[in-house]
Amino acid sequence: MLVENQVALQPHNTFGIAARARKLIRVQDVAALQAFMATPAWSAAVAESLPFVLGGGSNLVLTGDVKPLVLKVEIGGRQLVEDTDKGWVVEAGAGEPWHRFVAWTLDHGWPGLENLALIPGSVGASPVQNIGAYGVELQDRFHSLDAIDLKTGQSFTLDAAQCGFGYRDSVFKHTPSDARSFGLAGRALITRVRFFLPKPWKPVLGYLDLERKMQASGNQAPNARQIFDWVVDIRSAKLPDPALIGNAGSFFKNPTVTAEQCADIIAREPKVVHYPMADGSIKLAAGWLIDACGWKGKSVGNAAVYEKQALVLVNRGGVANPCTGGEVMTLAKAIQTSVYERFGIRLEPEPVVI
Ligand code: EPU
Repeated sequence: MLVENQVALQPHNTFGIAARARKLIRVQDVAALQAFMATPAWSAAVAESLPFVLGGGSNLVLTGDVKPLVLKVEIGGRQLVEDTDKGWVVEAGAGEPWHRFVAWTLDHGWPGLENLALIPGSVGASPVQNIGAYGVELQDRFHSLDAIDLKTGQSFTLDAAQCGFGYRDSVFKHTPSDARSFGLAGRALITRVRFFLPKPWKPVLGYLDLERKMQASGNQAPNARQIFDWVVDIRSAKLPDPALIGNAGSFFKNPTVTAEQCADIIAREPKVVHYPMADGSIKLAAGWLIDACGWKGKSVGNAAVYEKQALVLVNRGGVANPCTGGEVMTLAKAIQTSVYERFGIRLEPEPVVI
C-alpha cells in the first residue's frame, strides 16, 4: 500500500482548516489493508500511536498537523442485501458519501432514510456519532456494521446493541477506560454499514419544520421522496453548505436537564426552547441558548458563529485564508463560558478535536 507523506488535509475536512498528515494511506480495499497490517512497514508507521481514521471529515476540528498515521477511508460499493416481508437491508462501503447513499436508496424504492438527507460526511462515520435529524436517528434504521480492529487486524461485526448508541454517541467515541466497559475509540476502522428499512414504510413527520412544510404545501400524505425534498429545503435554508462555507454542522450537543432545572430556567427565561424527553428529562435547544447570549455573527479571527443558526461555527476565511482550529476552539470556549454564566448549563462540543 502507498504511504503518502506530508499530505494536505484541507480538502479532507469540511471546516476547510489547513493542516497536514505526516503519513496517510488511502484505504479502498479491506483485504489489502489487512495484508499491509502484517508487514514491518505497518509496525514502523504505528510504532508511536494507533492510526487516526478519517472518513468524510465532516465532524472534525484540526488544531494542528496530525502525527499519527492517517487512514483515509475510501471503501466504496452499495447493494441490497435482503428483501423480506419485514423490510429491506441495504449495505454501503464506509467511504460512500452519506447523502448520495440516501438518494440511491430512494431511487431504488427503498424508503426509510429520507429524514437524514443532506447530512455531510460518509456512511462509515454515520454510526460513530449516531447522526440524527428531523425525528430520525441512525440507530432507528441501523442493522449492523463490519470493522477492523486496528491493533490486531481482525475483522468483526457489531449489531445495534453492541454499538451502544446514544444521542450523538456510540461505543466508537469511548475509550475502554470510560464508564462503559467496551470502548472502541481509536481502535476500530468501520468498513461497511448495513441499514434495516422496515416495511411497511411509515413517514416520520412529527418535527415542527416538517409539519410547517406539510401545511404550506397542503400535502398531508407525502411520500418518502417528498420528505427527502423538504428536508433538503429546510437544511439548505438554515445550515451552511460546507462546499461554500466551511463548517462541521452543529458544534454543540443539545443539553439535557432535569424537569426542575428546566422550570428554574423558564422562570428566568420564559422563551427558552425545550422538548420533553420520554425519560422525563428535558432537552434544551443549544442554538437558542447561544443565540440568546448574542453570539450570531460574532467571530474570533476567521472562525465565526453562523448568522442563520447559532449552533454552527463556520470558517469565514474560505480556502485561501482559512480559520485555524485554535480560533475555532477559542470561540467555542467563549461561547461555553457565556452560556454557563447566563444559564448555568455546560455545552458539550459535538465534533472530534485533534
Ligand atoms: N434556534 C434559535 N436560534 C438559533 C438556532 C436555533 O432560536 O440560532 C431555535 C430554533 O428556532 C428552534 C430550536 O432552536 O426552535 C432548534 O433549532 P433547530 O430546529 O435548527 O435544530 P437544532 O436543535 O439546532 C438539531 C440537530 C441538527 C439537526 C436538527 C434537525 C443537534 C446538536 N443538532 O439541531 O443536527 O439537523 O436538530 O433535527 O442535535 C448536526 O448534528 O450536525 C445537525 C445539524
